[in-house]
Amino acid sequence: MTSRPGSSLLARTLAAAIACAAIAGCDSLPGKPREADRPIRPSEVTDFAALWGTNCAGCHGADGDRGSSTPLANPVYLASATDAAIRGATADGIPGTSMPAFATSRGGLLTDQQIDLLVQGMRSRWGKPVSPTPPGIDDATAGDPGRGAAVFAARCASCHGQDGAGGPKAGSVVDPDYLQLVSDRALRAATIAGRPDFGMPDWRGESGREPLDAGQVADVVAWMASKRPAPIVATAPAAVAPAHAANPAAAQPTTTRNDHVP
Ligand code: HEC
Ligand code: HEC
Repeated sequence: MTSRPGSSLLARTLAAAIACAAIAGCDSLPGKPREADRPIRPSEVTDFAALWGTNCAGCHGADGDRGSSTPLANPVYLASATDAAIRGATADGIPGTSMPAFATSRGGLLTDQQIDLLVQGMRSRWGKPVSPTPPGIDDATAGDPGRGAAVFAARCASCHGQDGAGGPKAGSVVDPDYLQLVSDRALRAATIAGRPDFGMPDWRGESGREPLDAGQVADVVAWMASKRPAPIVATAPAAVAPAHAANPAAAQPTTTRNDHVP
């Protein structure tokens, strides 16, 4: 019998392929999806980058900065916000703004575990010790717009203009359209954490200045908020949205103040 090396090689290869097919979990057969390629349910995603990229990057920026909304990859913002505050905003959204509610209990798509993972991921990636400790983002002290006007003149007008309507280095913070889209909380976040991406200083101010204290932050926020046009008076809920009344959680997150403008 003549030995035919070529055919025995073929035979061995075939045998190996058959043995391979017989073993469950062999991933090298063509056409068979690999474990890693199998689609996983959205509720099973536990990778920060994937969760962030799918749900948050569109508004807050791919790396948490330079987004159209409050930059979250700002160590000062993270130092001024508690985990509970970040978790609460993510779970429940910020009513009256475009920040949606993400918790499944509020009609969103993220589990509590995924929201916790996002909070921890933001902190571990973007948090840093900040000194001195910034005023808390949740400090709800009511400010005084009159005192706030003086704070603005001393600390903000050099960039935003005397009346806040725009100056040499920065745009308007009293534009009615802008103010209708942002909450007082976002004004606080900007005042405390600045916009390092645009050269706006945080609450410590430009070099050589004293940091603003919590009262001054509250006052200057109250001054900006006082420029917001009177809110469109809410019609009685029953007259406006009987359908929403049955499911307020689902209705609330995506409404913005401007939704009421005809
Ligand atoms: C459709 C746009 C949009 C998307 C998507 C979005 N956000 Fe926001 N988010 C906003 C806006 C706008 C604000 C500021 C709202 C305000 O207070 O005026 C905000 C504010 C926040 C705040 C609160 C900042 C503060 O004031 O303390 C947190 C935390 C936050 N977002 C987290 C997230 C996370 C996490 C995701 C993804 C799971 C996400 N956001 C997705 C638009 C968005
Ligand atoms: C050195 C210049 C500078 C100073 C001082 C400054 N800002 Fe700004 N601020 C900016 C720039 C630049 C932006 C980015 C947007 C723009 O170009 O208008 C900005 C943006 C903002 C925004 C919008 C934030 C956002 O996320 O869109 C607010 C609110 C604001 N500033 C408030 C203040 C207040 C209040 C003070 C004083 C306590 C202040 N700024 C001082 C330069 C400055």
